[in-house]
Amino acid sequence: MPVSLRPLVDADVASVVALWETCGLTRPWNDPLRDLERARATWPDLLLVAVDGAELVGTVMAGYDGHRGWLYYLASAPDRRGEGIGRALVEAAEHRLIALGCPKVMLMVRESNTGARAFYDTLDYAWETSALAGKRLIADD
Ligand SMILES: CC(C)(COP(=O)(O)OP(=O)(O)OC[C@H]1O[C@@H](n2cnc3c(N)ncnc32)[C@H](O)[C@@H]1OP(=O)(O)O)[C@@H](O)C(=O)NCCC(=O)NCCS
Repeated sequence: MPVSLRPLVDADVASVVALWETCGLTRPWNDPLRDLERARATWPDLLLVAVDGAELVGTVMAGYDGHRGWLYYLASAPDRRGEGIGRALVEAAEHRLIALGCPKVMLMVRESNTGARAFYDTLDYAWETSALAGKRLIADD
């Protein structure tokens, strides 16, 4: 596979946001540019891109809160699915989390996202049933 993984750099930002939009990962209440800024300000080495030459073909944004690691914004380019890019990104994020001493990694997937659920099944992720609660602290609008 001629795809390589590396931390995101400034020149990737527009392509990353475009990929997230193509993959349906953006939400009206999350400004993707601010999400990128915040992630890079905390764990820049956990925001990974997959590239094939000059083409950006995948992303994952991981974080570590000192108790759990989290995965967000996992995406592979629609015309590059099934090549192992998603798996490579998750495994690279896992390795970086382990290197930080993170004992467990978590993620959220919408119930309706059956493709992503099947993908994570193949990576041995176990589905948990705790209710998820959230409270917005900073509005992005
Ligand atoms: C989920 C996603 C990242 C998978 O990326 P990918 O590059 O196609 O995944 P890979 O090629 O690495 O696949 C890894 C394994 O998952 C399986 N898999 C991937 N997508 C699958 C699907 N939709 N249904 C069933 N299995 C799937 C592959 O068959 C492969 O299995 P194998 O290793 O046993 O052969 C990609 O479909 C995507 O970007 N989806 C849109 C964005 C999204 O929903 N992100 C997750 C948000 S929580």
